[in-house]
Amino acid sequence: MKIDIITLFPKYFTGPLGQSMMRKAAESGAVDFNVHDLRKWGIGKRRTVDGIPYGGGAGMVMRPEPLFKAFTELQSPGMHRIYLTPQGKRFEQPDAERLAKHKHLILLAGHYEGIDNRVRERHIDEELSIGDYVLTGGELPALMVIDALVRHVPGVLGDERSGKEETFSEALNGGLEYPHYTRPEIFKDPQTKRELKVPDVLLTGHHADIEKWRKEQSGKVTKIRRPDLG
Ligand code: ADE
Repeated sequence: MKIDIITLFPKYFTGPLGQSMMRKAAESGAVDFNVHDLRKWGIGKRRTVDGIPYGGGAGMVMRPEPLFKAFTELQSPGMHRIYLTPQGKRFEQPDAERLAKHKHLILLAGHYEGIDNRVRERHIDEELSIGDYVLTGGELPALMVIDALVRHVPGVLGDERSGKEETFSEALNGGLEYPHYTRPEIFKDPQTKRELKVPDVLLTGHHADIEKWRKEQSGKVTKIRRPDLG
């Protein structure tokens, strides 16, 4: 999968795309990330990318010329173009799974008051919001969308199971994940001196019982913390 990102702040992406799963996704060849500085297509010597809004009002608007050039240069037959904006549809787990199936994504991180509407009409396939709050730009939202979808690109998650029985997955009826434990079996709280034990069922090695316990736990925590998911 190829992912192009159009941004005014390319450095935003160096850290996150160079770590952990996203770095592995790139190194393995599963995902080809390309970060583009919009100023590359800016107007004139000063590489202008914004202008004052017609009709007046506060703030600046991203001009159409650089964006039309960017989309024309990056286009491909299998592309899907996403604009990150608080006015978009709320991004959810099914969107991450759906987007992971595309061959080529182009993400536009917006800034200022937004983009000239002619860009939206001509070059955007989908608008996404990561939640009902306004950030300074679309860079973090773009990274969040990329992070969530990259996990679903085949070959990116090492253990294929870890993507199946996770929070929001079908295997857990769209609920929250069950609690996890690791060694030691008995841990002494240094402050209270109490012994904190791993639930017995997890130590039995009895897979059916463990599965049953996990589903029950998932149901319980979902009901308490996210009744809206039930
Ligand atoms: N840009 C600014 N705020 C945003 C949000 N909540 N979602 C997507 N893009 C944004």
